[in-house]
Amino acid sequence: MVSSSPLPPSLLAIFLALILCVVGVKSTSTIPTKIGKGYSLISIEETPDGGLVGHLQVKQKNNVYGPDIPHLQLYVKHETEDRLKVHITDAEKQRWEVPYNLLPREQPPSLKQTIGRSGKNPITVSEYSGRELIFSYTADPFGFAVKRKSNGQTIFNSSADQSDPYGNLVFKDQYLEISTRLPKDASLYGLGENTQPHGIKLYPNDPYTLYTTDISAINLNSDLYGSHPVYMDLRNVKGVAYAHAVLLLNSNGMDVFYRGSSLTYKVIGGVFDFYFFAGPSPLAVVDQYTALIGRPAPMPYWALGFHQCRWGYHNLSVVEDVVENYKKAQIPLDVIWNDDDHMDGHKDFTLNPNNYPRPKLLAFLEKIHSQGMKYIVIIDPGIGVNSSYGVYQRGLANDVFIKYEEGKQCPTGTGPGWICCLDCKNITKTRWDDPPYKINASGLQVPIGFKTIATSAVHYNGVLEYDAHSIYGFSQSVATHKALQGLEGKRPFILSRSTFVGSGHYCCTLDW
Ligand SMILES: *[C@@H]1O[C@H](CO)[C@@H](O)[C@H](O)[C@H]1NC(C)=O
Ligand SMILES: *[C@@H]1O[C@H](CO)[C@@H](O)[C@H](O)[C@H]1NC(C)=O
Ligand SMILES: *[C@@H]1O[C@H](CO)[C@@H](O)[C@H](O)[C@H]1NC(C)=O
Ligand SMILES: *[C@@H]1O[C@H](CO)[C@@H](O)[C@H](O)[C@H]1NC(C)=O
Ligand SMILES: *[C@@H]1O[C@H](CO)[C@@H](O)[C@H](O)[C@H]1NC(C)=O
Repeated sequence: MVSSSPLPPSLLAIFLALILCVVGVKSTSTIPTKIGKGYSLISIEETPDGGLVGHLQVKQKNNVYGPDIPHLQLYVKHETEDRLKVHITDAEKQRWEVPYNLLPREQPPSLKQTIGRSGKNPITVSEYSGRELIFSYTADPFGFAVKRKSNGQTIFNSSADQSDPYGNLVFKDQYLEISTRLPKDASLYGLGENTQPHGIKLYPNDPYTLYTTDISAINLNSDLYGSHPVYMDLRNVKGVAYAHAVLLLNSNGMDVFYRGSSLTYKVIGGVFDFYFFAGPSPLAVVDQYTALIGRPAPMPYWALGFHQCRWGYHNLSVVEDVVENYKKAQIPLDVIWNDDDHMDGHKDFTLNPNNYPRPKLLAFLEKIHSQGMKYIVIIDPGIGVNSSYGVYQRGLANDVFIKYEEGKQCPTGTGPGWICCLDCKNITKTRWDDPPYKINASGLQVPIGFKTIATSAVHYNGVLEYDAHSIYGFSQSVATHKALQGLEGKRPFILSRSTFVGSGHYCCTLDW
């Protein structure tokens, strides 16, 4: 019998270290920092609405993060005196975009309309001016820039030089990349929500990931409940202050790399739908931004008062005690809340008959209302699975629930739907749950279909969770706003943890 002599532990350790080293080098060297050679602009012409439409063709195909989309449509328009839109999508196939009914805005020309029309009104100049912003482009490789008329400053420039740490435009089904050069002394704010150890000013080389999640803000450099892919850029140009903002209206998960002298977006789906707001003051930027995404919702006056909310008020007597104790301590209280403690088995719109009997609750409400106080209850997005539960029955009848794996209903099982929806099943093998590029969601570059509803699950109308993940809370706010306004005919007060660009028009954000 031949005995194999095991390697001494120290050698084994070196051997393992070598393997790890080789693997490490290999895995980083297979993904180049510059992917492909970009696109070239093969035609550009004016549209009847005063915009520009162009066609881009990929220069050299590769398979990093999937095949390139060969033809792209570029659409550019000065939508107002202070707002420029730059939209880039697949020229041949409709792609996911932030739904136009959720966030109303002008649509780019339909793909059919523009394909094959090139040469009708060809553009020969490479600049397209608005009142303050000037769009310009280079054709090969394609890059675009946005300049200010008043001071000549370039505020965005996607063309990459050899020496830049980033490459040209990349457009795949599940990976989109675009960068801009920035002056080193520009101050950027935004790209929320993130836990930022260095404060609200963007800090070079900190990771900024946008993918809505329920995470404790104690974790630094992590994405949080909201997704707001917008930043304001403040510059001192020869002693004069200028502000502008850049919004990338995209709901898919993304990493944004801010390096101080450049910024790169790496997005795992959707399209490039950019908006540039000219400012030049921060207030003007906010005015121009909310003119597009919707003005903040006016709150009822009482909502500006003092609120008390927490989970764990086991029964109505506890709530009554809390209100009473505020009075004893002479702290004015305007609003008292219930988390899901009042519900019957975590079921939305129900009352626990033992701990929150309806007649007693109504008497309590009458009392606090007579003292000028208000009462708010929390609603969870998960609908409990219970055949005797009307909300669940009506949801089934209207076929509104999320589905996974060929029409299987979500929620399934017995508990409240949201406790064991899809994540518990670990459906991580689809290209949606495990996309080729791993965003740094929750600080981990891992498949995204875990710890959330599976991203391969489909919502009403075939919408993929992969695309809609970060706008779920936003769409819930829109629906809640509509329902409450219909019921009372008064300004509703809605507080949401999960927000997106435009949520402020319907609710306000809850920040810890
Ligand atoms: C954008 O960058 C490219 C590459 O460095 C450069 O050639 C071009 O002049 C720049 N455009 C503007 C408007 O700054
Ligand atoms: C309400 O809950 C509290 C705390 O759990 C308990 O001490 C109290 O007896 C309960 N009161 C009623 C009326 O059930
Ligand atoms: C469904 O709801 C009823 C009424 O609240 C409750 O008695 C029952 O236990 C629930 N069933 C399940 C499976 O949770
Ligand atoms: C799903 O995966 C996680 C992480 O690997 C694991 O902790 C969990 O037990 C798994 N759940 C099921 C139902 O397999
Ligand atoms: C991902 O995020 C964590 C912190 O949440 C950070 O430590 C790490 O460097 C990030 N990774 C990348 C590649 O940005």
